[in-house]
Amino acid sequence: AEPLRLAPLKQEPKTEEDDGKKKVTVLFGTQTGTAEGFAKALAEEAKARYEKASFKIVDLDDYAADDDEYEEKMKKETLALFFMATYGDGEPTDNAARFYKWFTEGGERGIWLENFSYAVFGLGNRQYEHFNKVAKVLDDNLAEGGGKRLVPVGLGDDDQCIEDDFAAWKEQLWPELDLLLRDEDDTSSGATYTAAVPEYRVVFIDHVESSNGERSWSLANGNAVHDIQHPCRANVAVQRELHTTLSDRSCIHLEFEIAGTGLAYETGDHVGVFAENSIETVEEAEKLLNYSSDTYFSIHADKEDGTPLGGGALAPPFPSPCTLRIALKRYADLLSSPKKAALAALAAHTSDPNEAERLRFLASPAGKDEYSQWIVASQRSLLEVMAEFPSAKPPLGVFFAAIAPRLQPRYYSISSSPRMFPNRIHVTCALVHGPTPTGRIHKGVCSTWMKNSVPAEQSEDCSWAPIFVRQSNFKLPSDSSVPIIMIGPGTGLAPFRGFLQERLALKETGAELGPATLFFGCRNRKMDFIYEEELNNFVEAGALSELIVAFSREGAAKEYVQHKMLEKASEIWDIISKRGYLYVCGDAKGMAKDVHRTLHNIVQEQGSLDSSKTESLVKNLQMEGRYLRDVW
Ligand code: 2AM
Repeated sequence: AEPLRLAPLKQEPKTEEDDGKKKVTVLFGTQTGTAEGFAKALAEEAKARYEKASFKIVDLDDYAADDDEYEEKMKKETLALFFMATYGDGEPTDNAARFYKWFTEGGERGIWLENFSYAVFGLGNRQYEHFNKVAKVLDDNLAEGGGKRLVPVGLGDDDQCIEDDFAAWKEQLWPELDLLLRDEDDTSSGATYTAAVPEYRVVFIDHVESSNGERSWSLANGNAVHDIQHPCRANVAVQRELHTTLSDRSCIHLEFEIAGTGLAYETGDHVGVFAENSIETVEEAEKLLNYSSDTYFSIHADKEDGTPLGGGALAPPFPSPCTLRIALKRYADLLSSPKKAALAALAAHTSDPNEAERLRFLASPAGKDEYSQWIVASQRSLLEVMAEFPSAKPPLGVFFAAIAPRLQPRYYSISSSPRMFPNRIHVTCALVHGPTPTGRIHKGVCSTWMKNSVPAEQSEDCSWAPIFVRQSNFKLPSDSSVPIIMIGPGTGLAPFRGFLQERLALKETGAELGPATLFFGCRNRKMDFIYEEELNNFVEAGALSELIVAFSREGAAKEYVQHKMLEKASEIWDIISKRGYLYVCGDAKGMAKDVHRTLHNIVQEQGSLDSSKTESLVKNLQMEGRYLRDVW
């Protein structure tokens, strides 16, 4: 007999197919929000186009809790659109890392790809070696596994105008989606559809007492886990300049106090820092928007009755109520160049018809060249653009939804080791400061904040920032006796300072250390040889076997780290042959590329290999995790 059922059968949730609509899933892997913005924009436009389809926009991290669920869910998809950014050294974004690992390392895919149509749009930068690698890999593997590729992978290039690349890719995609999603009796093919300018709902509140929205930060924290969504408040304990007075540039050593916060890190990890815009920047924005700094308001992504306003999001963009001063200081990216969509939104709130027309032109396909000249090449900031269009006065709900992107955290390679500084996170940060083509002095948001920050050493009322730790795979070999080579000019030295602290701490516990060579580079011994004394101490203490420094502006000819590497070619080859590790940190576009080429040359010559053998040897080093790069 059938056993008695004690619990009611679980009701199957009503699926979206039940309403007869075709289901489309839009997935994104985003770091700075661009991929997410594109995913939402596409979905909005598509919703207007295809009444018989339903669109779900999903963060790849939220899509599934584990590998099994990825498989489970992917099996049910029939049409998916991917927006995939590539980061750093050809890596997926943090929120796509789990999916990408599952996808590239996971087993059988053939089954779920049988009835699967897809398109991939990639976000990358052509200046980098692994241009759009993540999107390409995903696209290739989906096709190889039997998925139906609707259009060629879109290769968005942030070095040029990525919005144009997106627009061009969309134009290819529509006819394909028309075939799959259009109503048979819909004859409107060829019509143009424009999604409405997104706008948050803003409620102005009478300013009561002294509360200004900083309350949410007054507690150190309370979260068990600290990530980009749940950063932790950390005080600046120490701040000092690393360059000498002879240098015309600046590099800051900064220490965040993390005792008692629950924050923990490992040597080689990154710290994400939510910095603030400077007061001058914020005051200028207030003036341009024509609102006073103490305007107190709450901001909402839903209507008063709790239903979504559109754009797929229900969560407000930042904690509120708060003053406009706080909102602009902490949450608005005011110094990047505005995207075309932002110019279009600005145009909609510009009263002078000539100004509005010029803005619309800049945002239009016809204004492509003008946009890339006047905005991108000139590095015009959002505030500069607003100043040139004085009649542009967007309401705050539009400004925060469509014009000023959310201020993003900046990432730094941590320059300390928890074995030596368990309660501190050290950062080594070069000040971004210099003239743009329009004559504006561009000041990097985070480095300027660090430069001006007040440490607890100096004042009880010290500076603080919301921070979080991002794990990396840039780690010392687990066996400390394995030989290592570190290459890190400029602030590329940061993680190696952590490595050396770790080695010193290990040595003090009696561990055996293998040889370690550091190639460092700077302009001039008397100006920017950062941490010189510490490095010499590491040599003396036996944590560093050899310190090799290239000074690029001392002699008549430039000396770079790769030149010094050539001088040590046989030693480097020897270490590679002994299964040693190679680490590179710093600038990706110039230095890391040149160093990579030099490594090839060294391997080829020292190993007497042909170029294809060289290629595969270096690839193998990378695959085995013995050639690691932390580049930006
Ligand atoms: P430069 O500024 O004199 O050109 C840290 O920034 C050091 O890296 C500086 O000495 C800088 O030299 C040097 N550098 C600049 N471009 C480089 C490259 N392509 N490869 C290696 N080092 C480089």
